[in-house]
Amino acid sequence: MRVIDLRSDTVTLPTPEMRKAMYEAELGDDVFGEDPTVNRLQEMAAEVTGKEAALLVSSGTQGNLVSILARCHRGDEIIVGSDAHIFLGEVGGAAALAGVQLRLVSNDEHGMMAPQAVREAIRGPNIHNPPTTLLCIENTHNRCSGAVVTPDQIASLAAVVHPQGISIHLDGARVFNAAVYLELPVKELVKDVDDLSFCLSKGLACPVGSLICGTKEFVERARKWRKVVGGGMRQAGIIAACGVVALQTMVQRLAEDHENAHVLAEGLAHVPGVHINPRRVQTNIVIFTVDGSREEFVARLAEGGVKVTTSGDGIRMVTHYGIMRQDVEEALVRAAKVARGQASAGSIASLSHGKGRA
Ligand SMILES: Cc1ncc(COP(=O)(O)O)c(C=O)c1O
Repeated sequence: MRVIDLRSDTVTLPTPEMRKAMYEAELGDDVFGEDPTVNRLQEMAAEVTGKEAALLVSSGTQGNLVSILARCHRGDEIIVGSDAHIFLGEVGGAAALAGVQLRLVSNDEHGMMAPQAVREAIRGPNIHNPPTTLLCIENTHNRCSGAVVTPDQIASLAAVVHPQGISIHLDGARVFNAAVYLELPVKELVKDVDDLSFCLSKGLACPVGSLICGTKEFVERARKWRKVVGGGMRQAGIIAACGVVALQTMVQRLAEDHENAHVLAEGLAHVPGVHINPRRVQTNIVIFTVDGSREEFVARLAEGGVKVTTSGDGIRMVTHYGIMRQDVEEALVRAAKVARGQASAGSIASLSHGKGRA
């Protein structure tokens, strides 16, 4: 039985071209700034995002942490979405290591924060207040089923915070998915954010790595902080070589993942006992709920060779480079079988429950 792994786009394996590029990569000591492959990748990342400079870091989590360290002082307050990965999925690193306080503003189901709510969250100069120094946004929005935030929406947030001297950091772990969905160059999409991180190791299928991008001055501060958290790597061109291939060859194919996620969402919507609004699925993340026990559903799926995770109060399936259309179709057949099993187990349970009471 073929195992269909829909847990995350992080399970992707490098392409043959990436493996070859790793083997052939020109290397040097990147802490001395002497790895030509890292330098090339950083230049490509700066160019594609329209920022002055970029820095290779080990992960999305490190990219967000180092960006916050480079922007904020201990005791600052930063505004973050209530469903943001920085808040929910990064082990409290911003608090533990950057010493900042997180002020949450509700994300709507499209991953957006209302500009008025952000305005109200900004602290005034009162002596009792910590200074608000950063707004963090996320695009695509993981918890919100891979929802895409548009350039106009980002501009509406920038109009609130920039006049107050507050910067915007974008957790753009999947920003290329957003750009492909919108059919826009990434640089257009991120023009109103001051800095961003994006991941190579998700839909772009690299084994390791993220980049942070911003002004030269910001990136130099980030470089120092990267060293502080142990992220100064030496012959990191081995990693960067895959990133170069990814930026050249793996971006446009994300549309295939989106199409597969769409097919998955439409198919799930027709499975009795499964609840999903397929129109909410814009990119590669599909989140749905089920009648009955979610944990049992996930366990039965795993027994049937379909690996998934939970997200919020739902079940999450993510399409990626390792998933083909026939995998999606097979996953739907297996999911329908699990749902049928759960429904009949439920009705037997209610029958015997009814009997017991009679
Ligand atoms: C939106 C978002 N940001 C950041 C990260 C962290 O990335 P990493 O797992 O590389 O630390 C993830 C990981 O799934 C993510 O979904």
